[in-house]
Amino acid sequence: MHIHKYEKIWLIFGIGSLFIFLTIVGVSAFAKGNQPPSGLTTIDPEKVDQTPPFNKPGLVKTGDNEYQLNMVASAFSYTPAQVEIPKGAKVTINVTTKDVIHGFEVVGTNINMMVEPGYVNSFTKTFDKTGEYTILCNEYCGAGHHMMTARIKVVD
Ligand code: CUA
Repeated sequence: MHIHKYEKIWLIFGIGSLFIFLTIVGVSAFAKGNQPPSGLTTIDPEKVDQTPPFNKPGLVKTGDNEYQLNMVASAFSYTPAQVEIPKGAKVTINVTTKDVIHGFEVVGTNINMMVEPGYVNSFTKTFDKTGEYTILCNEYCGAGHHMMTARIKVVD
């Protein structure tokens, strides 16, 4: 079958647009510090206290200037309630919950996760500035929801 000239042009235009679109989506998905989906790791919510690394919540050094911050959310607090992070540290925060859905927002940063029972959510960030950050729960979780906070101190 003979393809008409204009049909050909539109076909090329169409396929070309598709590639441009996919490239934009593909690049923007990972540019600007966006991260691949987290929350794919599962955990038994009844056994959080016995399951590493959440059996020992807190900051763990994993490499040169790299850390893991493992936190447990439960109604209505976070464990640990306060943590000190050395300035410039690249920290992967892993968080899970022992009971209901909680939030994990670090005010003034782009860290904002939903914490679901049965899952571990993660976020990696380098803390470049000293100061205090408030972690707060932004998912309604019950009577003490508004009091559910913790603190990150970035120190020299
Ligand atoms: Cu935990 Cu709201």
